[in-house]
Amino acid sequence: MSDTVGSKGGSGPTDDSPVEIKSASTGTPRALRQKILELVSEYVAASKADEGPFVAGRSLVRYAGRVFDDREVTNLVNASLDFWLTEGRYAAMLESALARFVGVEFARLVNSGSSANLAAFSALTSPKLGERRVSAGDEIITVAAGFPTTVAPIIQHGAVPVFIDVDPRTANVDVTQLEAAWSERTRAVMLAHTLGNPFDVDAVLEFCARHELWLIEDNCDALGSTYTTRRGGEPTTKFTGSFGDLSTSSFYPAHHITTGEGGAVYTNDESLDAIVASFRDWGRDCYCKSGKDNTCGLRFEHQMGQLPFGYDHKYTYSHFGYNLKMTDLQAAIGLAQVEKLPDFGADRRRNHAYLRAGLADFAHVFDVVEATPHSDPSWFGFLMTVREDAPFSRSEIVNFLEGEKIQTRVLFAGNLTRHPCFDELRERQSGYRIVGDLRNTDQLMDRAFWVGVYSGMTVEHLDYIIEQIADCCHKFGVV
Ligand SMILES: Cc1ncc(COP(=O)(O)O)c(C=O)c1O
Repeated sequence: MSDTVGSKGGSGPTDDSPVEIKSASTGTPRALRQKILELVSEYVAASKADEGPFVAGRSLVRYAGRVFDDREVTNLVNASLDFWLTEGRYAAMLESALARFVGVEFARLVNSGSSANLAAFSALTSPKLGERRVSAGDEIITVAAGFPTTVAPIIQHGAVPVFIDVDPRTANVDVTQLEAAWSERTRAVMLAHTLGNPFDVDAVLEFCARHELWLIEDNCDALGSTYTTRRGGEPTTKFTGSFGDLSTSSFYPAHHITTGEGGAVYTNDESLDAIVASFRDWGRDCYCKSGKDNTCGLRFEHQMGQLPFGYDHKYTYSHFGYNLKMTDLQAAIGLAQVEKLPDFGADRRRNHAYLRAGLADFAHVFDVVEATPHSDPSWFGFLMTVREDAPFSRSEIVNFLEGEKIQTRVLFAGNLTRHPCFDELRERQSGYRIVGDLRNTDQLMDRAFWVGVYSGMTVEHLDYIIEQIADCCHKFGVV
């Protein structure tokens, strides 16, 4: 079952009338819970059977959407019957399952991918990191072709993003420009794996090792993508999100798995993990789980800051933090989703390959992004750049496809430095640096677009996309 991003679901009530609550039944809570969950399962099956077939030209071909069955909904209802609401048993299970899947020691749930990036970057500013901490004015190398909240935390902390161009073949960082971007103030590299396509991990890791830089992988669009590293001897294939000092996920419905809103921060480093948790949880020093007191056994025996001895550790703050936590209701949905990640990834890879083969005749009209060498992307979307000599513009083909009920998206911000949020910084000529001319970033901003490859798509959807793109090309005289 799949549905649009952020829309009212196909399994919602069919009218606005309130659900009538019948008189109380008898039975143990356990038996009643079982009965409720069976009914929920039945409801999901019935609402799924009620969904109409795809009708080309009438049904919307979505760029992404949540894909779920009765397991997500029964988990959600089960969690709602617990009525724990904040982080609880499902959150603990999901954190373990995510860490296991990505292949790292620690995963911390947060309430969005943007929050994950914020918590991950904030962690690097912790005084606990001593000389390696990122301070205001320090430089962070990144790209402008992507999502704004990969970069926003850098600016929010008073650090300086240094933008380099992308390689148009992969839509990822052009690693040949890394050295030119380095300065005495460079402290970290923070990059996304663009639309599921891993960046050149080995080149970035080598650069970071040479200059002792932190690496944050924004893995929000790439959960399940792999990269085969050749560093350290034998080629080793690992999931993206396991290479950096920190990495992040988003679980917004367009992403590989969903919890509605949601995200996670990953690391192999126990102290970074504790710092992430502190920033996520109000900046506190205490690490008790929700509902627990005195896990350290020293709750009233610490001497910290200029506080009186024994000041309650639960209310002692080592960072200026946030509250970015996920609820257990969301985590319950995620737990059912995470089991499906291998299948979702297989679907995305298959759908991408199908579109690529189906559009092969138009290689002289569109440049389709290529998988980075040594990678196997779990694609987020099918990204195409309309060639400069094509007989139509990006906006002409996008308008055509949208008119035929095929959703399209651009590469998020395109060139982030051209957005209104940069106006003030641009005028002041401070707060960021650009190395080179971002020519390829501008090309993506001007001429690239993408269509969906997510698991909710069938061969009918994909054939319809291919047919409509071909129609558009023929309409403009492409042979
Ligand atoms: C690369 C990247 N990073 C971060 C985010 C932010 O995720 P969220 O929407 O969950 O805040 C997105 C959103 O799509 C993204 O594509």
